[in-house]
Amino acid sequence: MGRLLSALTLICSFLLPPVASATAAEVLVAYFSRTGENYAVGVIDKGNTEIAAEMIAAQTGGTLFKIDPVKPYPEAYAACTEVAREELDAGARPEIKGDVQDFERYQVIFVGYPIWWGDMPMPVYTFLERHDFNGKTVIPFATHGGSKMGVTQAAVQNACKGAKVLEGLAITGKTLQQDPATAGQEIVKWLRQLGLSRGL
Ligand SMILES: Cc1cc2nc3c(=O)[nH]c(=O)nc-3n(C[C@H](O)[C@H](O)[C@H](O)COP(=O)(O)O)c2cc1C
Repeated sequence: MGRLLSALTLICSFLLPPVASATAAEVLVAYFSRTGENYAVGVIDKGNTEIAAEMIAAQTGGTLFKIDPVKPYPEAYAACTEVAREELDAGARPEIKGDVQDFERYQVIFVGYPIWWGDMPMPVYTFLERHDFNGKTVIPFATHGGSKMGVTQAAVQNACKGAKVLEGLAITGKTLQQDPATAGQEIVKWLRQLGLSRGL
């Protein structure tokens, strides 16, 4: 009987979506995103990652939290890449504004960011290193210009000790800005696989 139960449990763990049991109140969508001049999209007044984050929040009923650096990045793309490179090389942890209320209540935490130099913007590390992710499910999503997730799948796992980190989703910034319907479909498909889409 015991063996049968463990065999059934094992089978179910493969068949059931990994986070289907989370309620909307337990879902957090934390993200970093920048406006201004950006790669392949010109000057934008809503960041690519912010568009993705809002789609995920609408689908899951999760709470949005913007990871907002105290010191803004340059509006010009080239200048921003220079600052970002310096911060990456220095292992900087730029200060960020505010914090998530009642972080402990969230069980499923989406973490979204643009790929910068193949990695996450440094303020995302500031955010991740500030919190205890032990026992939580973390789901990365990245927007990019060709690098997909870069090195960030492993970087998120490394920064979120004790968390179950699921396979992230990478979408190009251009798709989010110029073809939001396709981006939305990709997001819904991914969330359904996770058992987290309301199917709106
Ligand atoms: C500082 C900086 C560095 C970037 N580095 C990369 C990169 O290494 N690989 C890549 O595919 N895209 C890179 N990009 C493009 C961004 O990942 C892409 O435009 C992203 O969608 C921007 O998201 P956001 O509008 O939410 O900030 C970079 C953009 C910036 C501003």
